Amino acid sequence: MTLLDVKELFVNYGPLVAVQGISFQVRKGQVVSLLGSNGAGKTTTLRAISGTITLVGGKVTGGSISFDGQEITKVPPHRRVRMGISLVPEGRKIFHRLTVYENLVVGGYTSKDLEDRLEFVYQLFPILKERRNQIAGSLSGGEQQMLAIARGLMSNPKLLLLDEPSLGLAPRVVDVLYDAISKINEEGTTVLVVEQHVKKALTHSHYIYVIQTGRIIASGEPKEVLSMDMVKAYLG
Ligand SMILES: Nc1ncnc2c1ncn2[C@@H]1O[C@H](COP(=O)(O)OP(=O)(O)O)[C@@H](O)[C@H]1O
Ligand SMILES: [Mg+2]
Repeated sequence: MTLLDVKELFVNYGPLVAVQGISFQVRKGQVVSLLGSNGAGKTTTLRAISGTITLVGGKVTGGSISFDGQEITKVPPHRRVRMGISLVPEGRKIFHRLTVYENLVVGGYTSKDLEDRLEFVYQLFPILKERRNQIAGSLSGGEQQMLAIARGLMSNPKLLLLDEPSLGLAPRVVDVLYDAISKINEEGTTVLVVEQHVKKALTHSHYIYVIQTGRIIASGEPKEVLSMDMVKAYLG
């Protein structure tokens, strides 16, 4: 079953066409990666799906986005959260001056079972439980990314959108994060992750799309996509 269906999507920032008619699907239960270099349109795509695009001066100018069988292109962002879409934004965007616990509570504002959700994310990232009363800004980069993901999970999403979770983190930390992403997926959450780094995303994904200057240039199962010369040349 298709959970997310993006069709011929165009997104503009004023006159700039950042996303130029991309189409892709995310099947329920899968981890799907959207890979591309800096400026390719990855963040813009996730903003269009979460609805936050209007908050940064962008606009969906063509195409459609369907989630769970419903057309959502005109649905406001907060309603999309309630429908089951959660974005973990680029650069984490945690609240540095709030505690770990307070960040999680903010993420769970739509949740009717706050205690259950806390339990779930603390089990996934035990370090966050240990540090729950610490100011979020005092966490390491890896812990801040864990907190950002945990906060995104507090709304109990059907679809988790991850914007470059590995950016700026040591390989060892990236391994821990991607193991957590696999676990999140195994426990029933569908994941769409965007990355510039090929290796990790490949080994943890069911399906891959490659985006270059606002267009999908390749797609397929990880092995298949990796072997394409064009993809190798583009992503290195
Ligand atoms: N808020 C914005 N206003 C204007 N242009 C933007 C904005 N955000 C991104 N862009 C432009 O849109 C294009 C795609 O950017 P982005 O989606 O951030 O790419 P990626 O996430 O793949 O690095 C780039 O040319 C970028 O400069
Ligand atoms: Mg980006």
